[in-house]
Amino acid sequence: MITKPHIPVLLEEIERIATDILNSLNKPNALFVDLTLGYAGHSISLLNILKRKHTLSNKILLSLDWDINAINYVLDKNQKYIHKFFEYTSYKGLTVHRTSDTSESTKWYVVRANFAYLPQILDTLFQKGYLPKKTKVDFLLADLGVSTPQLEDLDRGFSFKTDKAILDMRMDPTTYKVKAADLLNILSHKELKLLFINNVGMSPVLASKLAWSILYEREQKPFGSKDDIKRLKQICEKLHPLRPSARKRLHPCTLVFLALRIAVNQELDNLKTLVDHLPNLLSPDSKAAIITFHSAEQKIIERHVATANLSIENVIIPKALEINKNPAARSAKMYILTRR
Ligand SMILES: C[S@@+](CC[C@H](N)C(=O)[O-])C[C@H]1O[C@@H](n2cnc3c(N)ncnc32)[C@H](O)[C@@H]1O
Repeated sequence: MITKPHIPVLLEEIERIATDILNSLNKPNALFVDLTLGYAGHSISLLNILKRKHTLSNKILLSLDWDINAINYVLDKNQKYIHKFFEYTSYKGLTVHRTSDTSESTKWYVVRANFAYLPQILDTLFQKGYLPKKTKVDFLLADLGVSTPQLEDLDRGFSFKTDKAILDMRMDPTTYKVKAADLLNILSHKELKLLFINNVGMSPVLASKLAWSILYEREQKPFGSKDDIKRLKQICEKLHPLRPSARKRLHPCTLVFLALRIAVNQELDNLKTLVDHLPNLLSPDSKAAIITFHSAEQKIIERHVATANLSIENVIIPKALEINKNPAARSAKMYILTRR
């Protein structure tokens, strides 16, 4: 059950860009890809935009997410709109779970997968005849990070709102076996220090102190039980520079939890892989919209676009009105990328 819904970020801006692309296409097909389906706020909008364009004969929305809870929720709520549901893993390839044949000109395919495998997924869908041959992506969206329901499901360990949960933080527990608690138990001082420096830009001095505190704490008792979050919170609160007075609006645990979540889900590696693949996947007049929420994601995009043969056409941030209505949007920064 969902206690708090996810509000899609920068929805109006995304709708405008997707509509412009569709209106300017001079071919009979359109392929839109939403790499981070979540609770389908953006996907449903993209689907409606595709449906309204009657002059195209074959329109497909492909939506991916690796979180089975999000997928199950969307499958359940949107049964009659989803034409096919697949799963893709590197070891099993593509599994077809549900197909409802339809003569509608707009089709919605949902895939449970890591978006880093998008090239393989598109290839397999072409080979198996689910996508017309040689179709390239006309609009691609990635709304990175976690959704509100993931954060609010306190047993998953993403949030420090609770005192009683294991530090898990895996968005896709079927693929990733290492929990945040395992990282705290097995990484050396140097590895933990680098994790905090590289993922959230923590100062080396603070990252080192934090790593020593974690090593001390795990000697008393390894992490991996229901008091994990409470113990990590106590560590963060004791470290003076992490305290709210020094970091103003940020809770002392915010960066520590973010750094661990990024590491557990290999978020930066997945993003790098995606950006590197984009030029081969996008059609000539397409656009990719990537919504980032922190500086490590922004650095990857800014550094990788040039080598990946992409250009940054625009960077869009939410207006004050949107942030007022949805504070979770406050750190969003959407990069609009085009092929060179
Ligand atoms: C911010 S939410 C997206 C919310 C969505 N746009 C909506 O309107 O509901 C991010 C989603 O991306 C998924 N995700 C993050 N990294 C992923 C990856 N590498 N592959 C597939 N899904 C990923 C998460 O599981 C989460 O559901």
